Amino acid sequence: MTRVLVTGGAGYIGSHTCVELVSRGYEPVIVDNFVNSSPKAIDRICQLTNRPVDWYEADVRDTARIAEIIAKHECEAAIHFAGLKAVGESTEKPLEYYSANVMGTHSLIEAMLQSGASQIVFSSSATVYGEPEFLPYTESHRLRPTNPYGNTKLTAEMLLNDVAGSGALTDVAILRYFNPIGAHPSGMIGEDPNDIPNNLMPYVAQVAVGRRPHLNVFGNDYDTADGTGVRDYLHVVDLARAHVLALDRFKHTHGPFTVNLGTGNGSSVLDVVRAFEAACGKSIAMEFAPRRAGDIAAFWADPSLAHELLGWHAELTLEDMCRDQWAWQSQNPQGYEAA
Ligand code: NAD
Ligand code: WQD
Repeated sequence: MTRVLVTGGAGYIGSHTCVELVSRGYEPVIVDNFVNSSPKAIDRICQLTNRPVDWYEADVRDTARIAEIIAKHECEAAIHFAGLKAVGESTEKPLEYYSANVMGTHSLIEAMLQSGASQIVFSSSATVYGEPEFLPYTESHRLRPTNPYGNTKLTAEMLLNDVAGSGALTDVAILRYFNPIGAHPSGMIGEDPNDIPNNLMPYVAQVAVGRRPHLNVFGNDYDTADGTGVRDYLHVVDLARAHVLALDRFKHTHGPFTVNLGTGNGSSVLDVVRAFEAACGKSIAMEFAPRRAGDIAAFWADPSLAHELLGWHAELTLEDMCRDQWAWQSQNPQGYEAA
C-alpha cells in the first residue's frame, strides 16, 4: 500500500482527500498544526473510512520532524495542503503568509529530499492568474496575482518547478483549484471556518442555519448576466478525487505538470443563493453591498488539460454541492467544536 504524507490533512480539502485516498487504496499520514482545523476532523475521517489514520501535530516548517515522519512511515509521496489561505489577511500579515506558504513548501521539499520521498502534489489556486486577459483561463494564461496570498502560491509553484528541473523531485503536480465548495455527502466532514467566513458558500450556509442574519452580496453592478460576481464552483469531493488521480499518474508518467481544476462553468452569487435555497428549503436573507476590494467580476476554468493528463472532470453539479453543504451545516451547526 502506498503511504502518502498529507500536510494540512485535517483541513477542509485535506480531510476530504484523506477519505478518497483510503477508498482508493492509499494510506494517508496526516501532519497538521491545527492553526485552522481541529483533530476532531481526523476522528471523523476515521469513522467514515472505518479505520485508524496516523496523524501528527507538527508544523511543516519543522524540517527535521517532517523528515522523521516521512522516514518512519516510508511515505513515497506528499500532498501539500498546509498553508494560510485568507486573501484579506494576507495583505495585513504578508510575513506570516510567506512563512507558512513559501518557507513551509521549502521546508517540506527539504524534508522529502532528506528522507527519500520524491513525489509531491501541491495546492495552488486560480488566484495566480489575476485579472483575466481572456476567459476561460487556460494554464498558459499570464500569471499576475493581485494579492500577497496569490504571490505566495505563485512563488511556491516556481520553487517546485525549479526543484523538479534540477531532478531532485521526480514528480510534481501543481493543481490550481477554482472555488471548492460542498462537503462529503454523509455530512460528517466539511468546511469549518474559525471566524466570520470570508467565502460565499460557508457564509450562505451559516445564514441558513441561523448563525448570521443575512448575506451581503458584494456588488450587483458587474458586467455579468445578473450583475453579481461569477465563479467556477466545484464540489470538494470531485477536487479530492483529482489528487488521487495525480498520484496514480506518478506511477507511469514522470515530470512536473500544472492543471486547472474547475467545472468549466461559471455561476453568479445569485445562482448560488437560489440553488442553496432549493437545497435547504429556506429563503436566504440578503442585502446588496458595495463591491469587495480586489474582487474580479468573473472567472472560470478551462479544465481540459486535467482531463487529458489525469482523466479527470468534475462530475457533481451545483445542486449536489448545495445539498452536501447543507447536510454538513445542518448536522454540525457549530462546526466541529460542538462535536
Ligand atoms: P484549510 O485551512 O481548511 O486547510 C489547511 C490546513 O493546513 C489546516 O488544517 C491548517 O491547520 C493546516 N496548516 C496551516 N499552516 C500549517 C503549517 N505551517 N504546518 C502544518 N499545518 C498547517 O484550507 P483548505 O481550504 O483545505 O485549503 C487547503 C489548501 O488549498 C491551502 O494550501 C489553500 O491555500 C489551497 N486552496 C484552497 C482554496 C479554497 O478555496 N479552499 C482554493 C485554492 C487553493
Ligand atoms: C465568491 C463570490 C464575492 C462572500 C477566494 C480567493 C481565492 C480562493 C477561493 C484560495 C465573489 C461574492 C463572497 C460574501 C459575496 N481561495 N461574495 N458575499 O473571491 O473567488 O476566491 O476564495 O485560493 O484565492 O480569492 O471566492 O467565495 O470569497 O467569493 O457576495 O459574503 O461571492 O464577491 O463574487 P473568491 P469567495
